[in-house]
Amino acid sequence: MVKRNLRGARALVTGASSGIGRELVLELARRGCSTLSLARTEEELRKLVDEANEIRARAFPDSPEHFYIVGDVCSSDVREQAVADAVERFEGLDLLVNNAGAGATLLVEETSDELACELFDLNFFSPLELTKTALPALKESASKGRRPLVVNVASIVGVRGTPYYGVYGASKAALIALTDAWRAELCASGVDFLTVAPGTTATRFFHSLREDKGRPNLPKHAPADPKAVAVEIASAAERGAKRIVPASKSAKALGFFSRHFPALIDDLMKNCASETKASR
Ligand SMILES: NC(=O)c1ccc[n+]([C@@H]2O[C@H](COP(=O)([O-])OP(=O)(O)OC[C@H]3O[C@@H](n4cnc5c(N)ncnc54)[C@H](OP(=O)(O)O)[C@@H]3O)[C@@H](O)[C@H]2O)c1
Repeated sequence: MVKRNLRGARALVTGASSGIGRELVLELARRGCSTLSLARTEEELRKLVDEANEIRARAFPDSPEHFYIVGDVCSSDVREQAVADAVERFEGLDLLVNNAGAGATLLVEETSDELACELFDLNFFSPLELTKTALPALKESASKGRRPLVVNVASIVGVRGTPYYGVYGASKAALIALTDAWRAELCASGVDFLTVAPGTTATRFFHSLREDKGRPNLPKHAPADPKAVAVEIASAAERGAKRIVPASKSAKALGFFSRHFPALIDDLMKNCASETKASR
């Protein structure tokens, strides 16, 4: 059963210049959404918006154009400007996707306070603050009978703490807890929340790590395709899912075994941590 029709929905997507965010903007365009893309790399955003507008011209010529805003989502001015631009251009906002994020792979013991703050600023505080800024517009959307949604892109390492992803995973675990609390608090207002916890996905993520000092020696697994992740996110939004682990069998398995057999995963994680450390 379709709970939400994305056709005609007005969306703001952060971290849209590459990877999952880029593919999601294109998937939303195919489903008839209007999008405002936010990231720091203008050249990539321009190419993306041209592609999205080609889709629009072919399939939804009467809908508003796709556009972008360049900026750092950690800046409150940028966040306010992004929400104001979306509301002005589209006359409202129905979908906020908090996707911008970055990781770091190193032991918790080696993680400086500065790096921990940087990761929490981008992965936790920015979605927290951007959502607060967007809430009046989202509530307004609900009051007009639409079905507004906030999509928070977390990570499977926020579902289960994993060696070398300790502080990054903690920032995503905080985002997951926030999303669950918000879903309950805002249920009566009509604003819904979807948690997305991807596993390893073939994007620029591993080239943009803030620190790269080792990886857990996990069983080999193929990275997910960001297009498949984007399709699963859009479909989950339409059917009203609350949380998904998209497009990765190994991540889904990690989520399942962590919940039902935590001691088994404790052993796996202990082995990965010591093996990787020994081989450094
Ligand atoms: N790839 C994976 O294996 C994986 C697994 C689990 C979860 N995730 C999560 O998925 C989300 C998307 O990541 P991805 O895999 O698609 O990686 P990606 O290709 O590196 O994309 C990250 C996006 O975030 C943007 N971004 C980073 N810092 C920003 C800032 N300060 N302000 C505005 N935009 C910023 C980047 O654009 P600019 O550099 O142009 O600003 C880029 O568009 C992230 O939240 C990530 O934590 C990824």
